[in-house]
Amino acid sequence: MAKRRSYRVLVVGGDGRAHALYKACEMSPLAGEVLCTPGNGGIRTMKRRDVGVMDFVGLVALCANEAIDIVVVSPEAPLCGDGTMGIVDYFKEHAPGVMVFGPSAGAARLEGSKRFCKQLCVENLILTARYDEVTATEQIERVLATHGVPTVVKEDGLAGGKGVTVAMTVEDARAAAIRGIVKGPVIMEDVVTGREVSFICLSDGKDVLPLRPARDYKRAFDNDKGPNTGGMGCYSPLPEYPEDGPVYAQLLTMANAVADGIAVEDFPFVGLLYVGAMVDREGTPWLLEVNCRGGDPETEVLLNGFKGDFFEYIVACCEGTLADMPTPQFAGASACVVVASEGYPEKPAPHGLISQDWLAHMAARGVEVFHAGTTEIAEGVKPTGGRVLVLCANAATHEEARHKIYDALNSIPHPFPGAWWRTDIAKGAAQLALDL
Ligand code: GLY
Repeated sequence: MAKRRSYRVLVVGGDGRAHALYKACEMSPLAGEVLCTPGNGGIRTMKRRDVGVMDFVGLVALCANEAIDIVVVSPEAPLCGDGTMGIVDYFKEHAPGVMVFGPSAGAARLEGSKRFCKQLCVENLILTARYDEVTATEQIERVLATHGVPTVVKEDGLAGGKGVTVAMTVEDARAAAIRGIVKGPVIMEDVVTGREVSFICLSDGKDVLPLRPARDYKRAFDNDKGPNTGGMGCYSPLPEYPEDGPVYAQLLTMANAVADGIAVEDFPFVGLLYVGAMVDREGTPWLLEVNCRGGDPETEVLLNGFKGDFFEYIVACCEGTLADMPTPQFAGASACVVVASEGYPEKPAPHGLISQDWLAHMAARGVEVFHAGTTEIAEGVKPTGGRVLVLCANAATHEEARHKIYDALNSIPHPFPGAWWRTDIAKGAAQLALDL
């Protein structure tokens, strides 16, 4: 357990996950002052600072000025850095007295390089789709002929959620590979079908402690139609994969294998380890991707449902004492719905202001609102991103949790002009579990 003292905390980020992490830290009796940089419109002005997430020099100076004890990093870009020097490595060198919750750049390659992640899977016997690397244009036709279609084409580096194409035709696969290869190596892999699971764990570099499995809705529109997004909502847990069942056990084995594999490379993973898996019809999980941060919006839904002091777990990860922590406990069922701006994901055109009455209405209905893409200006808080607000609720069942959110949304005019959301998040979660 974390020592009883008062930590001064800095959350780095301005997305919905950063807001959720900020709130989790703020609620902790262990946390004294909690600041956020650059933050967003959901965080009080006096608690925000304006140092950018990639300004490592500025962040170290900010920590010195504010006597920060622990930095909690939300986005992947500062964690990955340039592949060898990320925020964790920089602090280790320049501010060794400050703890940082997040993996080193070496460990963050699990997300920063798809090629690295696939190689680690192969070396550690982790089940993942068959793949080939394409490093030159003239290889594309040969690899295409090997894989056929459909095929998944992935850019090697960070692409802000836009680097993956599921190509249904040879023409689309070729076009995606040509687009990708301009930026670096490209992975082409077989398509695995089944049910996707986000399995997010805490990790201190030695031990892995799972949070609950969650299901993300990546397509923009109801019934999984439309373009891919960063995630339009999710729910947790997944009734079809209970903690005492075989799929959960395999997911945990997979997460441990990833953590052990990266530790053997001398890069123990500290932070939130996200294992994205596809569970096939036989109930076998295949690793799709690893992220070096919690998912978004999965982290929001998990933290909102978390019972107890999450900050204590953050400290335990940094201090390498996760093994001493009790099993995380959660509310019965959790759901979240993302409110997006007009034009998202292709051409987000956020405009107007977020209604204060609307925010008060959500609070009165027991719906927690995390800001994802908002900024405070003199007139109020304005939407600035594609995904603007993340609405979370807990209840005894998924059906009740989703109704809590949708009933609140449907009983008041929209929060800002052009706001929209999917209407089927967590719908039929219980039935889906029976339809295995
Ligand atoms: N929701 C998926 C991700 O954060 O990568």
